[in-house]
Order: sequence, then structure tokens, then C-alpha cells
Amino acid sequence: MKLNRIILAPMEGVLDYNVRKILTQINQFDYCVTEFVRVTHHKLSNRTFYRLCPELYHDGKTASGTPVRVQILGQSPEWMAENAVKAIDLGSYGIDINFGCPAKTVVGSHGGAYLLQYPEQIFNIVKQTRLAIGATAKLSAKIRLGWSDKSYCLDIAKAIEQAGANEIVIHGRTKTDGYQADKIDWQTIGKIKQKLNIPVIANGEIFSVKDAQNCLIQSQSQDIMLGRGILTLPNLANMIRFNDAELQWQQILEILINYATTTIEEVKPLYHSARIKQWLAYLKSHYFQAAQVLQNIRTLKTQQHIADSLKLQQTTLS
Ligand SMILES: Cc1cc2nc3c(=O)[nH]c(=O)nc-3n(C[C@H](O)[C@H](O)[C@H](O)COP(=O)(O)O)c2cc1C
Repeated sequence: MKLNRIILAPMEGVLDYNVRKILTQINQFDYCVTEFVRVTHHKLSNRTFYRLCPELYHDGKTASGTPVRVQILGQSPEWMAENAVKAIDLGSYGIDINFGCPAKTVVGSHGGAYLLQYPEQIFNIVKQTRLAIGATAKLSAKIRLGWSDKSYCLDIAKAIEQAGANEIVIHGRTKTDGYQADKIDWQTIGKIKQKLNIPVIANGEIFSVKDAQNCLIQSQSQDIMLGRGILTLPNLANMIRFNDAELQWQQILEILINYATTTIEEVKPLYHSARIKQWLAYLKSHYFQAAQVLQNIRTLKTQQHIADSLKLQQTTLS
């Protein structure tokens, strides 16, 4: 199957401004999606959007020029629409709507994956948002295959198409499947794709070039979205797209040092030292060296100390 686009997934608490900046410098992504912003019953402030997506200060693009799309999550069609307009006015590269988040607090307040049980409500949210942002702004919706079974998945996808979305991202698992690797179902994404006229972006469990090829074949999609896989193998998108070799551990260390030191210099850091540990935890499943580094920095609390420890590692290797 021919590959068209590769999109960087939204990952709350992980893929923030700084990580998007780094990953879009290393890889050629077609666009990124922000972490979600929760919409309740009011208009969010400009500050909220800028904090979520500092790229809005720069034409809605990362430093390397990759467009960034704001993701919104909520249950009220009116307020979702209002806030979508605001994000577009501030320069977001379209809007993505989250219908897949399984977090207890989110589904408890009837947002995210909870709505997979109610295709009509999904239709209303997408429709109102489309009407509010106008015909030309990009609008996507991100779903899972269902809540606990997949019987509504086509209804949900059709509702999204009929409501006027330009494209749909499908994470090939149900909400109750969580992140279980063996539950990934790219074939059902393919069945949905056959019945739709808008592009379908296949997502879930792509951790290697081989996984990407399998996903493209089984989902019959030309577009894929990478989430945890890109954190495990930070140049995975270019490995898939250009057949690049994977980065060496020294290069990964360089990236991590850059991550730690860049954020130290920022006026308003969005960064916590926990995040670098979190990234190392992802890297560990591919680069054995990450386990040792994680052990070395485990008790360190400040970014400066972490950066120093990483630099020491680098010196030892060279
Ligand atoms: C820590 C974490 C945070 C996530 N945050 C979001 C989010 O904010 N919005 C969203 O639509 N999906 C979110 N997701 C789901 C991912 O975008 C993606 O659909 C999922 O991880 C499957 O893709 P993968 O197997 O490539 O990681 C998150 C996933 C993880 C693991």
C-alpha cells in the first residue's frame, strides 16, 4: 500500500511543545496534534490555548515548519464549536476532536471515549463545529473502534463524515481494550475505510517499519499516525518514509540533552524533570542503554542535574 501522510499523535502529558519541536526536527511529519484541551461550558482564554499550543505564536507551526492542530475534548456541541472557532482564529491548523480518551475523569464527565456509545451526539458535536469554523478550515475527529464492542464503529465513522469532517483518525482498539497489544485491529479500520469517502488515518501499535507496512496493508489506509512508537524510536517516521537507519544511542543522548537544556533556558518552562524520565522509560524498550541512564537519574530532581548526568554519559561514550 502506498504511504501518503505520517502524523504525530496527540499524547497528553507526553507530547508537549518541546517534544513536538524535537520530533518534527528529526522527522518529516505532515502535521502534529496537540494534547487535548478540555472544553466545558465556557469559552477558554487565549492563555489556555497558547499554553497548550505555543506554536500559535508562530503561525501555528513548529520551529521546523510542521503545522500543529489543536485538539479539543468535551460533550457540549455549542461550547466545542465556540472554542474551535477561537483556536482557528488564533492560528491553529484546523481542529481535531477527541472521541477516544479513556481516562476515568474524562469519561466520567461524558467526554472522550464515552461518546463512542452515542454516534448521534458525535454527529452533533462535529456538525456544530463544522458550521462554526466554516467550510474551509480543516476538521478531523479521532476515535477508537467502540466502547466495549465494535458494532457501532461504522455508524460512528459515518456520522463523522456526514457531519462534515475532512478526515478521521482511527485508533484500532475499543475503549475497554485499553492499550493491549494483541487487541490491535487494523483490519476493521480497513472495513470502515471501504465505506467512507474521506481519508482515514490508521493509528495504533506501530513500533517499527514492519508494523507500519502491516498497518498500511491491513487498514488499506495511506495515512498513519504515530504515538508511542516515535518515543521508542525517535526517527521512526523517517525510517518508514525514507528507509533511514535508526538513530544510534549517542544521537539519542544528544536529543535528550537538547530536550533538558532547551527547556531550562525558556522563560516559561512547560517541562518537568519527570518528563525526561518518562521518555527514557519509552526508549528503554528499544535502547537497552536507556535503562542505565534512567537508573542514574532516578533520584535527580532538577533539569540541570539531569542534563549534567546525561552529559557525563555522553563523555564516557565518546
Ligand atoms: C500517555 C498517552 C497520552 C495520550 N493522550 C492523548 C490525547 O491527548 N488525545 C488523543 O486523542 N489521544 C491520546 N492518546 C492516544 C494516542 O494518541 C494514540 O491514539 C494511542 O497511543 C495509540 O497509538 P500508539 O499505539 O501509536 O501509541 C494518548 C496515549 C497515551 C499513551
